[in-house]
Amino acid sequence: MMSFYKQKFTAILLMLVVSLSAQSQDKGLTPADKSKIDVLLKSMTLEEKIGQLSLFTSDWDVTGPSLNGNYKKLIKNGSVGAIFNAYTVDYVRELQRMAVEESRLKIPLIFGYDVIHGHRTIFPIPLAQACSWDMAAIEQSERIAAQEATAEGLNWTFAPMVDIARDPRWGRVAEGAGEDTWLGCKVAAARVRGFEGTDLKATNTMIACVKHFAAYGAAQAGRDYHTVDMSMLSLYEWYLPPYKAAVDAGVGSAMTSFNEIAGVPSTANRWLLTDLLRKDWGFKGFVVTDYTSINEMVNHGNAADNKDAARLAINAGVDMDMQGSTYLDYLAPLLEEKKVNLSDIDQSVRWILEAKAKLGLFDDPYRYCSKERQEKEVMTPEQQLFARKFVAESCVLLKNPGQLLPIPGNIKKIAVIGPLGDSKKDMLGNWSAAGNWEKCVTLVEGLNNRPGKQYEVVYEKGCNVTDADRSGFDAAIKLASTADYVILALGENGWMSGEASSRSNIDIPGVQNELAEAIVKTGKPVAVALFNGRPLAISQLNSLPVAILETWFGGTQAGNGIADVLFGDVNPSGKLTMTFPLNLGQVPVFYNSKNTGRPYNPADPGAKYVSRYLDCSNDPLYPFGYGLSYTTFSYSALESIVDGGKIKVSISVTNTGNRDGEEVVQLYVRDKVGSITRPVKELKGFRKVLIKKGETRSLEFNLTTDDLAFYHPDLKKYWEPGEFTVFVGGNSAETMAKTIEVK
Ligand code: GLC
Repeated sequence: MMSFYKQKFTAILLMLVVSLSAQSQDKGLTPADKSKIDVLLKSMTLEEKIGQLSLFTSDWDVTGPSLNGNYKKLIKNGSVGAIFNAYTVDYVRELQRMAVEESRLKIPLIFGYDVIHGHRTIFPIPLAQACSWDMAAIEQSERIAAQEATAEGLNWTFAPMVDIARDPRWGRVAEGAGEDTWLGCKVAAARVRGFEGTDLKATNTMIACVKHFAAYGAAQAGRDYHTVDMSMLSLYEWYLPPYKAAVDAGVGSAMTSFNEIAGVPSTANRWLLTDLLRKDWGFKGFVVTDYTSINEMVNHGNAADNKDAARLAINAGVDMDMQGSTYLDYLAPLLEEKKVNLSDIDQSVRWILEAKAKLGLFDDPYRYCSKERQEKEVMTPEQQLFARKFVAESCVLLKNPGQLLPIPGNIKKIAVIGPLGDSKKDMLGNWSAAGNWEKCVTLVEGLNNRPGKQYEVVYEKGCNVTDADRSGFDAAIKLASTADYVILALGENGWMSGEASSRSNIDIPGVQNELAEAIVKTGKPVAVALFNGRPLAISQLNSLPVAILETWFGGTQAGNGIADVLFGDVNPSGKLTMTFPLNLGQVPVFYNSKNTGRPYNPADPGAKYVSRYLDCSNDPLYPFGYGLSYTTFSYSALESIVDGGKIKVSISVTNTGNRDGEEVVQLYVRDKVGSITRPVKELKGFRKVLIKKGETRSLEFNLTTDDLAFYHPDLKKYWEPGEFTVFVGGNSAETMAKTIEVK
């Protein structure tokens, strides 16, 4: 147990951290802003206050099950605090004018949108971005997204989505950073920094919205919107930290999740939204629901009707009702019946007015309506160049037998075969905001775009993505037979992941596997470009003598970035942030699992009474952290020094191949004995380093006992002295290991 003084010191430190977090939460609010809000609040009628707590969609884009056609009338009545799914300078200016010139108090609107992986320039889907392990690039992509979105009138994005997910059946894994909590925290903070910058009053920054609070990614059976039920320990250890990381990074809003947690929907969960988010974490932004999630509490069965649901939500700490119109319809009668408090309504209004003040909207409601910015700062060449590089950096080389890749320089004819080879729409992936699919570069186009190319590119679709039509096989086989090299473009449609896109079968759909087998039989060298929004069960494809490059959905510059990797202009450096299972039967399968009381021992493969399957290995096809390069790396000289509460780990990494390459060197730790069982490995650090061919780099990681801390049944987080193993390697399964004692 900690000494009295250590406990006191820790308590002071904690208060300091919370207050620093609160300060970062308060960033951009001046005393003048606060007094202006005080005056405004006093002058508002109850209806006008309730209006600020209502968010409605315009009719430009549909992102949920219901629409409210009279949003313009509501704006003029002062009955709307924010509008989403509306952008471009002209449209935003038109709606803002209604609010600030036709409503009584002229309170400006906030304009929100799902800018998830780019606004006009669409970047790789977030799961792909995470596989770059490049926090600076992830932050930069959000910086560009904010630049483009704010140039078109927006100032609030419903991102980052930080839900930890371990089940690839859930289509929304595409929107997150994968299975690891520690990495998820780094990505969450990077995204918030990218969107919000250091000054929300700057017209190229926007309020971010951490979502979906909380634990939406743990939906039962990977089925979207399904029940979430877990121990508080698991919630605290694995699912909550990335939301906290976003709060600590200063995120200006949070979105409640559709799901219940242990019987209470997040949108009615006072412990979650007030006790934890506000009191423990010091969150000072505003809480918005997900799309009609207040109304949906009637379906959940914890509210008798929409009025009851509105009561639950406002009393839990929800500030803004997205599209449900329940606050607009019921808060006044609920107040009359003394079922809700005016002080809660006033506080919610204050959070929202503060957000508007932070954005500078009271100074100039049209500050995000610059025609000049809209013309000059969207889809610029520099943004496209960055996007192209980010596509390449997000690709993961899964298999490369006989160095099939990169494509040899003397190739004269390349056949692209498969339904994803020439599909612009699919390159956008899900949640592509204002992205224009017509501007996407397909794989075929990317291969043809190469300056001075000395080869011909031919294309046959061969089959569709999802049906059983094999009529295209013959033409595909025939064309492949005339080529020197074949690239198979296989995978999912872009709409098969994202919201409301769970799959009960995560194989490569349709007859694509059969097409691959038929093409391989031609005897030509074959590389696969895999297009998907989730880990797939690709064992059948993987059994073929082909190279496999995971390309995800790369967005606007997909084809160019992928071609840069296929031809070796870029050496792939991506590493999986979500496990690829051998088959669906293994799911959920993830690297940081527990050892169990009867662990399988590979040295004793015949043992029966151990935790194993009769028909399948426990090991996934490709583990967390895995990814190949066109060069090779070797690890040596793993050393560690423990000095009091500090642990220094050093490693040497040598580029043993014949070209320069980047390697993501990963540090994992195992706590051998804990009062709460600990995972067999936990990611605690990484370094992405460029190592020239033949070069050896010595790297150092510095941990403290804080990095060894974990949650206990009292939900306090602290470490326990004892034996630990440190692992360092290029993925979570192949590492050097060293046991250390930390007292
Ligand atoms: C959707 C999504 C959420 C999105 C919101 C607004 O239902 O769950 O992620 O931000 O509605 O479009």
